[in-house]
Amino acid sequence: MKRRIFIRNTGITSLGMTVIPATLGFNTINDLENMQNKFPLTIATWNFPNASQKAGELLDSGATALDAVEQGVMIEETNLKNTTVGKGGAPDREGNVTLDACIMAPNGNAGAVAYLKNNTHAVSVARRVMEETPHVMLVGQGADQFAREQGFEKENLLTEESEKAYREWLKKKEYKPIINIENHDTIGMLCIDKNGDIAGACTSSGLSYKMNGRVGDSPIIGSGLFLDNKVGGAVATGMGEAIMKSVGSFLIVELMRQGKSPQEACEIAINRIIKTNPNYRDFQAAFIALNKKGELGSYCIQKGFSYVKYQNSKNENIPSHYYF
Ligand code: GLY
Repeated sequence: MKRRIFIRNTGITSLGMTVIPATLGFNTINDLENMQNKFPLTIATWNFPNASQKAGELLDSGATALDAVEQGVMIEETNLKNTTVGKGGAPDREGNVTLDACIMAPNGNAGAVAYLKNNTHAVSVARRVMEETPHVMLVGQGADQFAREQGFEKENLLTEESEKAYREWLKKKEYKPIINIENHDTIGMLCIDKNGDIAGACTSSGLSYKMNGRVGDSPIIGSGLFLDNKVGGAVATGMGEAIMKSVGSFLIVELMRQGKSPQEACEIAINRIIKTNPNYRDFQAAFIALNKKGELGSYCIQKGFSYVKYQNSKNENIPSHYYF
């Protein structure tokens, strides 16, 4: 495989010098060798080890970044104990579980769904939007109708447990964003496959007991997720409203394009949220990012956020740096 990458990505000049196309983001043979040691690579928000393991093992066996990222986040969409993603997610104030998700492919294609009511695998419906329609995003009833047309069977996403918790919530109807909700929230994942191609996905049931109709950052290309296969990618978790107002994932990729490291770019994006949201102490927002060389970054407002990395057959939970 290494040899194949080498041949595909390099050329020999008349002087016998090896030239690596600048578009790949590598300048030297050392960069290329470095890449071969680092890839494939998976990172995901929070400590979702089963999701990163799934994506990582798929990549190890030769899957594309796009397939790996979809199947990786699907693990959490199915996890009924996870009350912030997929089936079992907390409902809105009126008892509806509504899912938001998006996916991006290395060629820049993107698909998204918002306010999807009857399917666990919002990310897979988003992928179909990307691959089977001329559009990027479908919402609400249209997203549900499209899912049925694509053969996704109608499901009830409200579990006994989440209904019980909702009935409890109804007693006070208190609306207060929870910081680091049970130590998880949206899952955002970025994968780099053996060929060095990047794909990303982001999927969430959004804020617990949100207003009916509320859509967060997770399905918004540029906010919950953005990538450019020549540069790198970023994904977000936490308070969607703050992330949307800063278009944080796009900002991070553009900063990396200008030469910032993934860590510097994540810090700038979080600092911008802090500057423009005087109530920043009341919520969490976090970004993770990687660049084309496989360098990583993560930063968040509050202590308690971590991300998981799968590389060289090893899953590792890494606490993020934080603002305060
Ligand atoms: N980050 C998930 C949301 O705010 O909906």
